[in-house]
Amino acid sequence: MATQTFSAVGPKIRTKLPGPKAQAVLQGDAQYISPSYTRSYPLVAKRGRGVIVEDVDGNEFLDFSAGIAVVSTGHCHPKVVAAIQKQAAELIHMSGTDFYYESMITLAERLSKVAPMSGPIRAYYGNSGTEAVEAAMKLARYHTKRQGIIAFYGAFHGRTMGALSLTASKTQQRRRFFPVVPGVASAAGSAMTTAGAPLAPVTTEPSSATQLAISTAAVTASGAMRSRIRPDASLART
Ligand SMILES: Cc1ncc(COP(=O)(O)O)c(C=O)c1O
Repeated sequence: MATQTFSAVGPKIRTKLPGPKAQAVLQGDAQYISPSYTRSYPLVAKRGRGVIVEDVDGNEFLDFSAGIAVVSTGHCHPKVVAAIQKQAAELIHMSGTDFYYESMITLAERLSKVAPMSGPIRAYYGNSGTEAVEAAMKLARYHTKRQGIIAFYGAFHGRTMGALSLTASKTQQRRRFFPVVPGVASAAGSAMTTAGAPLAPVTTEPSSATQLAISTAAVTASGAMRSRIRPDASLART
């Protein structure tokens, strides 16, 4: 742990940005890493503690977005680090689709107590946000036996094919990937049924990294929608 090297308050910029070590990493990235990764700016992060992130050249930045909103405890919280180290030393592989683990139930029990919905709550664990959205789509179809799903323009839900079918934030994210999953309609603003009752959008997903797939967020797109909801193929042209 090198906590003492971090400023009490940041940021602390020591080099021109990006610094010399960062530039070397960027060159390596251009040579060896798939161009499908999208970056907004050339931060080459090395380590973090609390709200501070330090790059490879020793520049320190204040992280106002908590990772990408997934380190709500701050970077490298000692209790989180200790829990990860303990688990890695005890059992580094798990497969919830093949075996049972006590910790899966312990966490699910805790989540069920804080989940902002009426119970009973059962948890599904995913590796990523996009995988949680995939699960929500499958659960919604399985549970309701309906096929249609409404998503909203401007929303980002992930990049795997199912989640991408809902994503409508940047044209670039979908260009050249059609056809996406059928049955998804894209809408501006909130959707209403012809009867005027609001629909619960499947895109109302929890933002936490440990996202609960929400089977209750099923929506029908079976002809009961107003004209401002367009089939997703329309996004191909935008
Ligand atoms: C609202 C929302 N949903 C889904 C995702 C996809 O998550 P992941 O990158 O873990 O697949 C993100 C990622 O930024 C997100 O912000």
